[in-house]
Amino acid sequence: MAEQYSAVKVTDRVHWVGAVDWALRNFHGYATSRGTTYNAYLILAEKVTLVDATKPAYRDELMGRIASVVEPGRIDYVVSNHSEMDHSGCLLDVAAAVRAEKIFASRQGAAALKAHFHSPTEVAAVQDGQELSLGDCKLSFFETRMCHWPDSMVSYLHEDELLFSQDAFGMHLATGERYDDQVPDWLLLHEAAKYYANILLPMSSFVARALAKLTDSGLSFRVIAPDHGPIWRSDPGRVIGWYARWSGQERANRAAVVYDTMWGSTERMARAVGEGLASGGTAVQLLPLDGSHRSDVAAEILDAGALLLGSPTINGQMFPTVADVLCYLKGLKPKGLIGAAFGSYGWGGEATKHLAAALDEMGVEQVADPIRVKYVPTDEDLGNCRRLGLLIADRLKKAYGE
Ligand code: FEO
Repeated sequence: MAEQYSAVKVTDRVHWVGAVDWALRNFHGYATSRGTTYNAYLILAEKVTLVDATKPAYRDELMGRIASVVEPGRIDYVVSNHSEMDHSGCLLDVAAAVRAEKIFASRQGAAALKAHFHSPTEVAAVQDGQELSLGDCKLSFFETRMCHWPDSMVSYLHEDELLFSQDAFGMHLATGERYDDQVPDWLLLHEAAKYYANILLPMSSFVARALAKLTDSGLSFRVIAPDHGPIWRSDPGRVIGWYARWSGQERANRAAVVYDTMWGSTERMARAVGEGLASGGTAVQLLPLDGSHRSDVAAEILDAGALLLGSPTINGQMFPTVADVLCYLKGLKPKGLIGAAFGSYGWGGEATKHLAAALDEMGVEQVADPIRVKYVPTDEDLGNCRRLGLLIADRLKKAYGE
């Protein structure tokens, strides 16, 4: 067993035995510029229990950390809270290697593990609210469907008031430290928000339902141990509060101006729109797609009140980078946005029409007709762009205050 790996104590019973992926830069289309972790946990109860696993490439790291606290063959139970392969990739293999007595997952989780691994291994399906005795302590399972997949569930260790929350409350952040109080607050908020926007935003109604189920349960959460990023031990209520806000899609007096440019004209328009927004008192972020990733745009619109889209026309279409972002944002289903489209063109100028149609399809309320400029904007055109920014700022101020 690889001896360089150590488990990290979370409570007297629970140890972190996961893996740190410092190199990950793409998680199914989400730019993970700070890497990630695949958190797995070992409960040293009478029935030694492993909660979740890692990608197959990190199997040795997982086994090495387990071996640093207990002989792996002593594992009795394995719990799979979520069957996506970043957590289940080596789970059945590890369970077989240590001859675990039983594997537990939600009903949909058991089916998903079968569909992924085509293994004859039996997985016991647990019901929502079901309890499992580990001898000297007890786990309860709660279905949290669509947080992140249909199979998702969380497990609660009563004696330690500890919630194993799988993807929920996680973030893609590789660190040498394991706890929230060892990471700067701004970084926790930034990466938790980016994670929510890119992974959970389209499931917000399910997240709200899961939050209500957990808060209505009357249970206390002293520690929240997610499957990615730091463990929340200093103030778990903080991330629960963030999730309440994000799942309610609460918006603020902020705007994102997302654009690409061919010969600089659409960029000049975007800057004029941004000037108008800032002059009107709106916090504005310009996102030129030459250097901004779709997942950064998603993070910006998590609580922005307005989305403005700009594109030149190329061969009768919007710029491919803008189409990429639109396809991604449509899937994330943001609600409650206002916005507008703008762009430059040389011949037909179809891009703004396509942008407006896409905004309609996303349910973004367009506060004005698209602004189209032939070739290069005049001072009057730029004045119109600035006025568009002011108009949006006025609407945002009325809705969300200064
Ligand atoms: Fe971290 Fe949905 O897997």
